[in-house]
Amino acid sequence: MKGSAERRLLSRRRFLELGGAGLAGAALLGVAGCARQESKGLVRLVFSHGEDSEVLRDQIQRFNQRNKGAIEVALRLAPADTDQYFEKLRIEFQAGEAEADIISGDVIWPAQFAAKGWISDLSDLFTADLRASYLPATVDSNTYEGRIYGVPWFTDAGLLYYRQDLLEQAGFSDTPKTWDEMKEMVAKVRRDRGTRYGFVFQGSEYEGGVVNGLEFIWNSGGGVLAPHGIDKVIVAAPEAVAGLKTARGMVTGRVAPVAVPSYKEYESYTVFLNGDAVFMRNWPNVYARAADPSLSKVEQERIGVAPLPVAHPESSAHSGLGGWNLMVNTASEKTEAAWAFIRYLSAPEQQKERALKGGYLPTRKDCYEDGEILSRVPVIELGREAIRDVRSRPVTPLYHDMSLAMAEQFHASLAGMVAPERAAATLQERLQEILERSDSL
Ligand code: GLC
Repeated sequence: MKGSAERRLLSRRRFLELGGAGLAGAALLGVAGCARQESKGLVRLVFSHGEDSEVLRDQIQRFNQRNKGAIEVALRLAPADTDQYFEKLRIEFQAGEAEADIISGDVIWPAQFAAKGWISDLSDLFTADLRASYLPATVDSNTYEGRIYGVPWFTDAGLLYYRQDLLEQAGFSDTPKTWDEMKEMVAKVRRDRGTRYGFVFQGSEYEGGVVNGLEFIWNSGGGVLAPHGIDKVIVAAPEAVAGLKTARGMVTGRVAPVAVPSYKEYESYTVFLNGDAVFMRNWPNVYARAADPSLSKVEQERIGVAPLPVAHPESSAHSGLGGWNLMVNTASEKTEAAWAFIRYLSAPEQQKERALKGGYLPTRKDCYEDGEILSRVPVIELGREAIRDVRSRPVTPLYHDMSLAMAEQFHASLAGMVAPERAAATLQERLQEILERSDSL
């Protein structure tokens, strides 16, 4: 299935022939011309993504309509859970059997896939000029050793959702700045209103649990790796341990449900939108669900959004950066057509439509100045502070191993299987081993 490097990538010469404007025009008007040059007949592309939605299906259909006879994209649904999707792709890539031409991927994947040679270097297509219109953090998540391996599609940041109505009724006019304030608010609301749970979040042993664990650690002033560079592990330091203790304290203090160590995104928002929790940590697109009465018992107007609480009132809150990118399978011989589809899907019109209809946060800067988006996707304004202060998970080919170790220890600590200090010490050793192993390769 593998073609030569020249065939796989749009050559530099062809790119210059098309020219920046030509290429943009091709993407806008449809790429009938380019596609025909790549192969005489219809170019069929497979796009792999983990979430089915009407808006995505409509967009694909519109693309196919515009490019009738030249390119046809088929959606191949992958698991929605990021870990399962990753595993599926990893197995397929290793076996040389990855069929999708275009792959949607979590922000933590490009460095890992690029290091293995599984996804194409798009630096010559996704030029510095084009990249300048995207939020820098989303571009960074596609950068590996100075080259660019994907185009940001939508972005995510961890947000604190709260029940505005319940807090007001209990006499609170502000959102909690610290975890202690949050606990006080929970105690009062539950006393007054009998709300079942205080705070729900993602504590299961999976990627979401890693992001939640990191947020607890960051917001206690700690870290897993030293801020600059990825070679120094600092997770056994007292600040990081304090983050794990805060998380565990949510369970022992009955602020969170005892089952929270098994919660993923779905369990968290199901409880919250059912009206059973005062606070929830989740991603921005949950806000859109509250607008639909068939999905939520709590109307959107009753829900507020704020940055996550911190341990010390003087420190600023950090949210984990999430989001999804569009990448090209190195083995695909249809890069020109794949690129046209990526340009289309990540263009302002499509990003805007996904924001309006699905609550997915755009990756393009100009969308954040679009009046219609701002008024119809209130989570952007409400979550602006949190969205600004995002932190990435380590961008490294070693991430998968690191993530497994973090998921295991964060979960064990949250579930009370090991003390937070022990979990942090074990994780310190594991991460050091992973880094040392890679040094000796
Ligand atoms: C969301 C985020 C992604 C993260 C995942 C964890 O899909 O966009 O970055 O890894 O949640 O469950």
